[in-house]
Amino acid sequence: MGLLSGKATCNTHGQDSSYFLGWQEYEKNPYDEVQNPTGIIQMGLAENQLSFDLLESWLARNPDAAGFKRDGQSIFRELALFQDYHGLPAFKKALVEFMSEIRGNKVTFDTSKIVLTAGATSANETLMFCLAEPGEAFLLPTPYYPGFDRDLKWRTGVEIVPIQCTSLNGFQITETAIEEAYQLAQKRHLKVKGVLVTNPSNPLGTTMSRNELNLLVNIITEKNIHLISDEIYSGTVFSSPGFVSIMEILKDRNCENTQVWNRVHIVYSLSKDLGLPGFRVGAIYSNDDMVVAAATKMSSFGLVSSQTQYLLSALLSDKKFTQNYISENKKRLKQRHRKLVSGLEKAGISCLKSNAGLFCWVDMRHLLRSNTFEAEMELWKKIVYDVKLNISPGSSCHCTEPGWFRVCFANMSEDTLKLSMQRLKAFVDSITTTLHNQSNHQSIKNSRRRSLTKWVFRLSFDDRVTGER
Ligand SMILES: Cc1ncc(COP(=O)(O)O)c(C=O)c1O
Repeated sequence: MGLLSGKATCNTHGQDSSYFLGWQEYEKNPYDEVQNPTGIIQMGLAENQLSFDLLESWLARNPDAAGFKRDGQSIFRELALFQDYHGLPAFKKALVEFMSEIRGNKVTFDTSKIVLTAGATSANETLMFCLAEPGEAFLLPTPYYPGFDRDLKWRTGVEIVPIQCTSLNGFQITETAIEEAYQLAQKRHLKVKGVLVTNPSNPLGTTMSRNELNLLVNIITEKNIHLISDEIYSGTVFSSPGFVSIMEILKDRNCENTQVWNRVHIVYSLSKDLGLPGFRVGAIYSNDDMVVAAATKMSSFGLVSSQTQYLLSALLSDKKFTQNYISENKKRLKQRHRKLVSGLEKAGISCLKSNAGLFCWVDMRHLLRSNTFEAEMELWKKIVYDVKLNISPGSSCHCTEPGWFRVCFANMSEDTLKLSMQRLKAFVDSITTTLHNQSNHQSIKNSRRRSLTKWVFRLSFDDRVTGER
């Protein structure tokens, strides 16, 4: 241990969070329809696997793009040597146009203001490095993406101070909540450098209202701080109200050429909208030349490979393809979202009304033994180990109310989603059975265990016999 640095061994990485522990449990016993039908179903991973066929058929129609060729001629050597950290101009052009298209072409982006990074993870960390000193703070509305503890804090030494949002108003950001967070930071002697929001939200699956966005612009103007808008889910908005980018708000308020204009930075990535987290393509967009210059220097630590840039510049320049992809992908997400919501309803579970993202924010407060985070962990463990569904507890997203869970719906087949809902319903029914049994003076623990064992076996057995999913 002594041979390693304090940074490498300290726990600000957040690896012990139930968010990552759930993934580890899944890895030990992953569900497979044929090989392991009683395994854990992964519902804790915000992956978009619904539109791979569209990407694959584009690849089949455009073999040059993936084959290191231009007009049939190999450009292997050119790509092998390219290492300019400003990125391929053709790719940057295609990317900013794609970003505009996702925002209904209401805003345009300039290639000279974009910095390519290895995913949004790298973009967020780079922005922290550029905007804050170790020990300074960013305010983040809760619940937030659990990876932020690692991405924003771990290597930079920046602190996160939560803006506490609650279910009372659907977890919307309020002026009071921001002010309280600001005061809290000051009490902890932390200088606040900015606010970071995710729009659409992970884990809520909701888009921010114009009111909230205007409030944020007011606050950063008044306090003279930065605003980072992580818009990684901007292309997943499948229902109204539509997506409003912070850039649109700035334009509406004629903020160009003001200081605020330079203090708003957008983070983007192709990990969610195109479902390509393995390609590691992200970006920072900033109106501040100094931020762009500093982030470009830093991008050496996380460049996007040249063959990836080459392939995606061809794909994203195909406007007919991108137009169809965006609308078809949204249609599929909407349908899948509906399936999850109705499956949950059948189990007597509701969720926050949402219109975006690859997950729902699910309300299981009525299933808690008590209104505590201990009870939330107890329920989560049952759901992971007994029901065999890996979902993410709200506490891992720093939610202040016990009993909320993030459940992903786009990283599995429709049949797997159906099975997961069958398992969940059987579990909820078993709890009801337990409550009945209570009146017969049976031990709660034993009866829950008995009914659980019965239904886990019954589901997997029935599935194999009938082939029904
Ligand atoms: C809000 C948010 N930001 C950033 C990331 C990281 O994305 P990437 O794969 O592009 O690094 C995620 C991934 O889940 C996310 O949800």
